[in-house]
Amino acid sequence: MAPLDAALGWDDDTTAETYAAFTRDFPMYGVTSRDLARRASLTGNSLVVDLCGGAGATAKSILDLVPMHAHVISLDNAAAMQRAGRRVLTDPRLTWGTAPAEKLADHVPDPADAVVCNSAIWKTNVPVVFSAVHQVLRPGGRFVFNIGGGFAGVRHPDEVAQRTGQSLNALIHQAAASDYGYTPPPATEAAPKLPLEAITEHLSTAGMTLVGSEIVAQHSTMAEKKAWLSIPVFARPEGEFSHTQRMEILHKAYSLTKPDAPTVTSWLVVVAQRPTEER
Ligand SMILES: C[S@@+](CC[C@H](N)C(=O)[O-])C[C@H]1O[C@@H](n2cnc3c(N)ncnc32)[C@H](O)[C@@H]1O
Repeated sequence: MAPLDAALGWDDDTTAETYAAFTRDFPMYGVTSRDLARRASLTGNSLVVDLCGGAGATAKSILDLVPMHAHVISLDNAAAMQRAGRRVLTDPRLTWGTAPAEKLADHVPDPADAVVCNSAIWKTNVPVVFSAVHQVLRPGGRFVFNIGGGFAGVRHPDEVAQRTGQSLNALIHQAAASDYGYTPPPATEAAPKLPLEAITEHLSTAGMTLVGSEIVAQHSTMAEKKAWLSIPVFARPEGEFSHTQRMEILHKAYSLTKPDAPTVTSWLVVVAQRPTEER
């Protein structure tokens, strides 16, 4: 069975609970969510959309910055993720909507001041979603999102400098090869799925403008990487493995590393806007 992410396996209670616990126990999604919320300039906002909001890590960062009278809509198509989030995040300013990002316009009743999307935009139908974001934003409203470095084709200098020894992914492939006869797919230099040029073009087609972009480094540890790879949707390697087998492989690979060894993940952060005046 392929890793669940390949089959959009977010609507699963085990994945949702493991993911939600990860967002509480490790900094990754809190750090990236706070960064996006800060860039969205939310302090005077009345209505903010948390797009592909999952279990609410990003909504929490938004709620920390918007005024008391504001309203936040967290939209995600995985009901299981939202069930996990609802149990812990009970702010009366927050509404959960279960729907695909592509149908955003059907779920936002008033013009939104900002749309924030953490760690998900490349999983959506980007041209359709950008058009829907334009539809819901008020003129001058901000659209802030990030893209994993691999998908955007970018690498922060810290990630390049930190490269010492083998990555946990490479060790996973080795352990799978020695214990299960796994043959990793040939390493091909695939073109990035969503580079900045494509983003700029999609924004323009949707009637939005690029305000700015930045390649940022998220500093972490091998222990966090291991916990992230334990979330069923992210577990590796691909192919005919059960989750139990993937976890055995992960433990073996991880035993060859040091828990506090530093790791760096690159992100491309994008701030866009619906123009105040449209032609
Ligand atoms: C990595 S999680 C990010 C969740 C949240 N933004 C955070 O930072 O914790 C990715 C989320 O995107 C959602 N997702 C992926 N594609 C989607 C789509 N087309 N429409 C709505 N949600 C989608 C998944 O269900 C999942 O909850």
